[in-house]
Amino acid sequence: MTDGILKQIAQYRAEISSFQPADAADVEEYRIKFLGSKGIVKSLFAEMKSVPPERRKEFGLILNEFKQLAESRYLSFQELAVADKSAEQVSEDLSLPAEPHRLGARHPISLVRKRIVSVFERIGFSIAEGPEIEDDWHNFSALNMTADHPARDMQDTFYISQHPDWVLRTHTSSVQVRAMEQQALPIRIICPGRVYRNETISARAHCFFHQVEGLYIDKDVSFADLKQTLYYFTREMFGEDIRIRFRPSYFPFTEPSAEMDISCLICGGEGCNVCKHTGWVEILGCGMTHPRLLENCGIDSHAYTGFAFGMGIERITMLKYQIRDLRMFSENDVRFLQQFEGL
Ligand code: DAH
Repeated sequence: MTDGILKQIAQYRAEISSFQPADAADVEEYRIKFLGSKGIVKSLFAEMKSVPPERRKEFGLILNEFKQLAESRYLSFQELAVADKSAEQVSEDLSLPAEPHRLGARHPISLVRKRIVSVFERIGFSIAEGPEIEDDWHNFSALNMTADHPARDMQDTFYISQHPDWVLRTHTSSVQVRAMEQQALPIRIICPGRVYRNETISARAHCFFHQVEGLYIDKDVSFADLKQTLYYFTREMFGEDIRIRFRPSYFPFTEPSAEMDISCLICGGEGCNVCKHTGWVEILGCGMTHPRLLENCGIDSHAYTGFAFGMGIERITMLKYQIRDLRMFSENDVRFLQQFEGL
């Protein structure tokens, strides 16, 4: 009996050695026949029972060898199949240069925001942020814009219908209030962020845009500090030849208040249609922090003074890159965005 099996194994060995699969189906057939759960290797191991004990060792060795042969042949068929497949797929010239990956570009608003922030960081300002859904106190009341204050009308507001007290912030000045309420003095912050107003969309206005707010509160902060800080910013941002001027203005949360103009970047001050032939363009509002605002936030207005300013990022970006239509920023037109690659 045992010799019969050994003879059989010798035949299988011969069959395996001469077997040449033509395709993947042949290989699979081979696997099932020899290595499958009801295959030859399994059934030969089952025969072990009928082998007399004194021959089991010899039989076991032969059987193991046979199993290894069957398995290693199967592996080599598989490797061949894989090599075959990849040979079929390589129809192109692999030495050709690869398709270049297109690099994206930063959005111009992000570019300018980062530049503004980094200029102020260099002189000790740190970033502060606040929520875009604000409450009435932080967006208006704490800033001296009480419920009936006419200045509210200038900022057409989106109200949140779920709560009478909630608005989409109309400016980043709300972050000033939050910082003054929470932070230890002195405070020197720069607050970039998105703001919302219910404006008719046009080349010059949108229902959302971006601002950067600045605030400095300490002992003995003066209007001279405000002017010098903004002058430094303007030169860093637009170059050494830029000129600035301050015009008196009104904001409920600063006293005195001013608007700052820069000499027109397009005509250098000669007069053109961008500066409406004045040679100047307005870029920000600013002033000395109103004592009532300080007190509203729990700061002693006799011991501390401060300055604040707020500017629109879209406006500065339009001036810097001579963009004529504000809607370009949110249209996602790749032809527009591509122009900022590498900046
Ligand atoms: N929040 C004002 C606006 O959106 C801009 C502004 C003006 C901010 C004067 C300031 C400031 O901090 O001092 O129109």
